[in-house]
Amino acid sequence: MSYKNQLKLKYEIVEDWFERIKKQIPELEILPIIWSPLEKWYRNKIEFSFGVYISERENIESRRNIWFHKQWEFSKIVDIDSCWLISDKANSVFKYIKGLCYNSGLPVFDQKIHQWFFRHLVIREWVNTDQILVNLSVFEDSLKKTYNDKRNEFLDILQKDEFLKNNIRTFAITYNNWLADTVKSDKSESKILWWDWYIHELLILNEDQENKTESTFRISPFSFFQTNTFWAQKLFSEAQKMLWYVKWTILDLYCWTWTIWISLLKNWIWSDLVWIEIVEDAITDAKHNAKINWIENNCFFLAASSEKAFNTNPELKSKIKNLWAVIVDPPRDWLHKNLISFLWELKKELDFKLLYISCNPITMARDIQLLVENWFKINKLQPVDMFPQTHHIEVIWILY
Ligand SMILES: C[S@@+](CC[C@H](N)C(=O)[O-])C[C@H]1O[C@@H](n2cnc3c(N)ncnc32)[C@H](O)[C@@H]1O
Repeated sequence: MSYKNQLKLKYEIVEDWFERIKKQIPELEILPIIWSPLEKWYRNKIEFSFGVYISERENIESRRNIWFHKQWEFSKIVDIDSCWLISDKANSVFKYIKGLCYNSGLPVFDQKIHQWFFRHLVIREWVNTDQILVNLSVFEDSLKKTYNDKRNEFLDILQKDEFLKNNIRTFAITYNNWLADTVKSDKSESKILWWDWYIHELLILNEDQENKTESTFRISPFSFFQTNTFWAQKLFSEAQKMLWYVKWTILDLYCWTWTIWISLLKNWIWSDLVWIEIVEDAITDAKHNAKINWIENNCFFLAASSEKAFNTNPELKSKIKNLWAVIVDPPRDWLHKNLISFLWELKKELDFKLLYISCNPITMARDIQLLVENWFKINKLQPVDMFPQTHHIEVIWILY
């Protein structure tokens, strides 16, 4: 399907989802969809799986496959030659490492019997700093006797290889002997073969305009980062326009990599930020990123769940007495009912804007319906396409 038709279809899907809400709020306007600056080659992170079974040729087994899982299949791997979603550079790194793995003579992991070596290959590319991070995940338990020499030889090649050294900034190996089909687990251990655990990316907002800003982010192999960098830059510039400008305090309830507010605070240095995030490691990184962007004095960080944070930390209330905006960018689930009640209570006392960014318009539609029952008003929805060639759609909205 052409990209133009994909956008048309996605717009119709959003219209469909919000049909019911439009009955409740007839003046609600769905703005034209903001498209991704790149139709292909836009992902900065890709996770390939190694696997034994070739889906297209059911009866042929091979111990050398690395691609994507066939949809809904845990052990079948779809054969592709290169991936349209990542850049040429990331594709060349992918092909090269695939070749090294193949030539090593070490077997790929078999998801049916939970044995053998290669499990996943994660490639992350930072487009503004031209850095690539690779994380190769392996299962070591069943290898010790039979393949010891081959494994050591393979690790030695990785350490010395000129192509890898010239093209990859950080090479990590994750030893994951856990059964679940994930890159890391509670019991896995990651080691860096060279360079640092962290690499850095820039986000550049309002590139062609007077108020252009650049922010720097430190990212580790497992940190979340918006997966379409060009899109993130466009979206955050748009969010900035939607909020117009910020004075006083901003409360970010799902901050993770803090990318939005660090980018925006570069222009709004007079505001304060209260950050809440459930993953403690993310807060450690958030503090560091605030520091390298010179905004740490404006920030207060808390590792907690958004729906409980204000009950368990009553002193938080005093930090948001000058509240200007609240931002929520939750995972795919809808907002917890306690959080909705908290937002209702807060809105009764304070006049603030609520900026909601969602990667799941279905749960978002339900949340809007609830929020407008009490105190909140909405007049515009902004659909954005972060993931061309897939069915995913993001939507941003502001409630007054
Ligand atoms: C879509 S990401 C937000 C990304 C962020 N806005 C950014 O630009 O980097 C959702 C975040 O919500 C966090 N999270 C999930 N449940 C949470 C909860 N109950 N309270 C606080 N944070 C939560 C996740 O750890 C994740 O970092």
